[in-house]
Amino acid sequence: MIKGFIFDLDGVITDTAELHFQAWKKLSDDMGWQFDREVNERLRGVSRMDSINIIREHNNAEVSEEKLLELATLKNDIYVASLDQMTPDDYLPGAQELLTLLRQEGFLVALGSASKNSNKVLKQLGATKFFDVIGDGNSVSKSKPAPDIFLFGAEQLKLKPEQCIVYEDAEAGVDAAKAGGFYSVGIGPEERVGHADVRFETMKEATLFEVKSAFGELFD
Ligand code: G6P
Ligand code: MG
Repeated sequence: MIKGFIFDLDGVITDTAELHFQAWKKLSDDMGWQFDREVNERLRGVSRMDSINIIREHNNAEVSEEKLLELATLKNDIYVASLDQMTPDDYLPGAQELLTLLRQEGFLVALGSASKNSNKVLKQLGATKFFDVIGDGNSVSKSKPAPDIFLFGAEQLKLKPEQCIVYEDAEAGVDAAKAGGFYSVGIGPEERVGHADVRFETMKEATLFEVKSAFGELFD
């Protein structure tokens, strides 16, 4: 029986992918590195340090661990500054309505994001009130596709994985949900999240009504 929902943040509640892209692009330009939207797609759901390693490898660049950390910090400073522009108008269509309904219907709700900036993003959106538990990049050490962040959320909600549905837009995120024994809703194209239990193109279609219909008796 489903009692809780765990949401990824970037690409599910709001689209920060563009802001992450701009920040990585600025850093790459400064470094003389190649970086485009195709490479950016590979960073979806991936932690900050794993992301910079993907960009470094893509450029065959030799960089010390210390320098990598410095570059990741620079990128983060650019990204965090850009979050100041974010407002409650920046929910992905359907996300705010879904979170509101889950509250009204008494479901427990957790955030399960890899981002260490989750609190700031939620604050900018005015979304903190929708969550009983906030699991972010500071809550666990192993990032997706390890299930740890979702297991943390479920444990804090005092629920078992099989009582929770995870919403994810990243391949690694759906992998993490499945590895933890959670039900999953994939947001995005088949080639990215087709391995989720249920898939919708966008959050707009992923309503509580549709999810209840898709999972049927799990909601009885
Ligand atoms: C999310 C995003 C990733 C990002 C990661 C870490 O999973 O999808 O693109 O790299 O969070 O975010 P942070 O804000 O901690 O750099
Ligand atoms: Mg995401």
